[in-house]
Amino acid sequence: MKYVVSTARAPRLLPLGACLLAASLFALPALAETAVKTEVEPNTLVPAGVMRYAPSVFPDRIIASPAQDAATGFGVSWRTATSVDAPVLEIVVAGDSPDMGVRRRVASRSAELDGENGAARFHRADVDGLQPDTLYAWRVQGGGTWSPWMHTRTAAATDAPLTLLYFGDTQNKNASLSTRVLREAHRQAPDAKLALFAGDLVSGGDGEDDNEWGEWFDAVGPLATMVVNAPAPGNHEYWEEFEDTPQERRVLGDHWTRTFALPANGASGAEPTTYWFDYQDVRVVVLDGTSALDLGTAEAQAAWLDRTLADNPHRWSIALVHQPMYSPRQDRENRLLREHVLPVLERRRVDLVLQGHDHVYGRRGGEDARRDTPQYLVSVVGAKQYRLGAQARQDMDPTAEDTQLFQVIRIDGDTLRYESRTATGRLYDAFELRGATPAARTLHEITEGRIAPRDCPRDATLKGRADRCWE
Ligand SMILES: [Fe+2]
Repeated sequence: MKYVVSTARAPRLLPLGACLLAASLFALPALAETAVKTEVEPNTLVPAGVMRYAPSVFPDRIIASPAQDAATGFGVSWRTATSVDAPVLEIVVAGDSPDMGVRRRVASRSAELDGENGAARFHRADVDGLQPDTLYAWRVQGGGTWSPWMHTRTAAATDAPLTLLYFGDTQNKNASLSTRVLREAHRQAPDAKLALFAGDLVSGGDGEDDNEWGEWFDAVGPLATMVVNAPAPGNHEYWEEFEDTPQERRVLGDHWTRTFALPANGASGAEPTTYWFDYQDVRVVVLDGTSALDLGTAEAQAAWLDRTLADNPHRWSIALVHQPMYSPRQDRENRLLREHVLPVLERRRVDLVLQGHDHVYGRRGGEDARRDTPQYLVSVVGAKQYRLGAQARQDMDPTAEDTQLFQVIRIDGDTLRYESRTATGRLYDAFELRGATPAARTLHEITEGRIAPRDCPRDATLKGRADRCWE
């Protein structure tokens, strides 16, 4: 395919004849203004045979994540070509002058990854010793190049208000259809300092994982460094080794450990994919549902979760896990999570359990009707939309099908306000949790301004799948 780009500049004044000639040259064929039918869309915007995301000497895929204590540090990872050796990160307190003063250099460690876009080297720098509630300017090095200066603010004192974002699965058609959701979230909550992703960031497989990750970064855009990002791994961050044999086994994809600079404080047996951190007055614990369900770590993760929550000095706690404790989709049950992890979430009175995996929306409380926490949420950002099961329609309220969503959570003192909004920013679900201690928490529904519940309006997807709503 060849694209011809004209670089000729038109003179300011053209004789009439030239104008007519130009008009005829640039005249578009008449397009009838008829509706264009929706067609099945490929998973990425990258046509077969096109290399869209080749690594180079310029740093890309730059993303910040919280350190265990987000008030004093954060981690950064970035990607370059393999020719780039031992690049550094430079950091300084952000100032209004372009001369921001003497900056500190932080060393990185690197790991390589070979994909359909060629061999890449990923680098990770852990920045510590920072001042709380301080805006830092930082940049990362490539091969004789630097990234732009990024701004990231450290977490403030525990009693300062906090806005954070929660995103369900992005997974498919990330550039095409997740982009708008993430941008709308940014518009709705420009004060957000932290973003939580509930896993299945990409779909994986088919030899185009790296294009999908490239598109994920395109979709996340400036949020990757303007807030700190905490992802949970989904089943799609794994691949199947020895597929369709008795030895079949889930293996974590190479992108996970290279793409994110996460705290190394996870559960035994699931170290690269589980972690916790403190952000102001909330302790966030990130679990790996796939490892719990398929790799035998459910008990170890539950014990680690219990220890981590027992030590929580903060007023609030949030658990982030891909597979839901209560599945809103028909015929799905994550038994080992229910057996081992759920009792800990209940006993420790976690406030929010943020989940994904089922490609619908649903909220419910726990089994004990006398308690308002935890609130169990399932949400979805991306284009893939499933259908609700009958049980979910009984037990969950509100629910949604066929809806791309994001969530804004605001914590201020003894109040946590949760808002779920659609891709266009309309309010779909809202509530507050109030109370000074986990045992005192009460739920207050906010119904004003919510739009009507949404159900799938079609019998089958474009590909004819009746068990899904969109794909
Ligand atoms: Fe999933």
